Amino acid sequence: MQFDLFENPSAVPGIDVEPLPRPAPIEYHRTVPGYARTPLYELPRLAERLGVARVLVKDESSRLGLPAFKMLGASWAVAYAVRTNWLPDAEGVLSPAELGERLQDRAAKRLIAATDGNHGRGVARMAKLMGVGCLIFVPEGLAESRIRAIESEGAEVRIVAGSYDDAIRRSAEEADAQSLVVSDTSWEGYRDIPKQVTNGYSTMFAEVDDALSEAGMGGPALVAFQAGVGAFAAAGLQHYRASGRPTHPRTAIVEPLTANCLFRSAEAGVLTEAPPPHPSTMAGLNCGLPSQLTWPVIRQTADAFIGIDDESAYEAMRALAESGIVAGESGAAALGGLLAVADGGSPEQRAAVGLAPGATLLLINTEGATDPVNYARVVGAPPEQIETEAPARRASAGVLRHGI
Ligand SMILES: Cc1ncc(COP(=O)(O)O)c(C=O)c1O
Repeated sequence: MQFDLFENPSAVPGIDVEPLPRPAPIEYHRTVPGYARTPLYELPRLAERLGVARVLVKDESSRLGLPAFKMLGASWAVAYAVRTNWLPDAEGVLSPAELGERLQDRAAKRLIAATDGNHGRGVARMAKLMGVGCLIFVPEGLAESRIRAIESEGAEVRIVAGSYDDAIRRSAEEADAQSLVVSDTSWEGYRDIPKQVTNGYSTMFAEVDDALSEAGMGGPALVAFQAGVGAFAAAGLQHYRASGRPTHPRTAIVEPLTANCLFRSAEAGVLTEAPPPHPSTMAGLNCGLPSQLTWPVIRQTADAFIGIDDESAYEAMRALAESGIVAGESGAAALGGLLAVADGGSPEQRAAVGLAPGATLLLINTEGATDPVNYARVVGAPPEQIETEAPARRASAGVLRHGI
């Protein structure tokens, strides 16, 4: 397990955060078919291995009918974009189907996105729920299973020669009066929708707060986030490092060593590209450019940046499987970063990332086995088998579930 670590000298405990829109994203999410709060597990074996008091894992391997957290951001951002652009007079909380019903000339309307997997599938699912068309651009080399998953939502998929960032550029050219581009990364003049993607992710952290308060537990002392463009991490950082919160946990960002754009940006003190190729199997994290929108939040509130090799993520996938949690390469990456530091780091490095004996660590497993072939190769059993065995595995590993 190889890693790079950078401690951020620019981090401050709390920052002023723009309040979430009202009604809050979680109220809208409750109207999306299949909504249920995802589980929050406590994993004692991992706590022992990492040398902390508690490890909590919020398991997003099944969220709104898809095997990743991304639908939270995609569904909220699509609803926001549709309302702002096509239904400016609509009021109240409206479900995706209700939004679709109110659209004029629905058959001519399309949602457009670029993706390396999960975001595009979320947008495609929303298009299906609303009854509008959908066109998704993907970079060449994306796993066939990920492309099929997007197509299974009824979307047209177009492969773009080049990287994820090339696919983003290509998607932006499609915007017109009948075609809404719903991207999870921002660029010059395109900030409103990516901001809503991040706002949509707030639902996960609101649910963690609810589960912990139902269990009579305090907040985490350390939260680690896997990052691609940084929208997911920024949602958590805005939640936990808002100046109004009573306590501010330490935070760490984990990226592939080969797509470490946030790490490089933190080191340079300015937005910096991690040039392609991005060969990591942590496909959702293979981003060469941070989101301009989320970078300022990350720069101010991420205490440590960790770059990892694929083997570190694989080690985390196996550790989670042992405790009955199915995690894909990207979903397991934050744990991979902490395992790499715990196993191979110096005491100073462990302290720098916040691995302390009394600490409660929070991680989010952001995806299930989105590449089942690689999953079976890494874990030694197909995801369906781990799924079937999950209750027994959780019981034998002493896993607890907090809240409902
Ligand atoms: C499973 C998974 N986890 C984490 C991320 C990182 O999200 P972001 O690109 O917002 O940093 C992604 C991005 O696609 C992902 O697919």
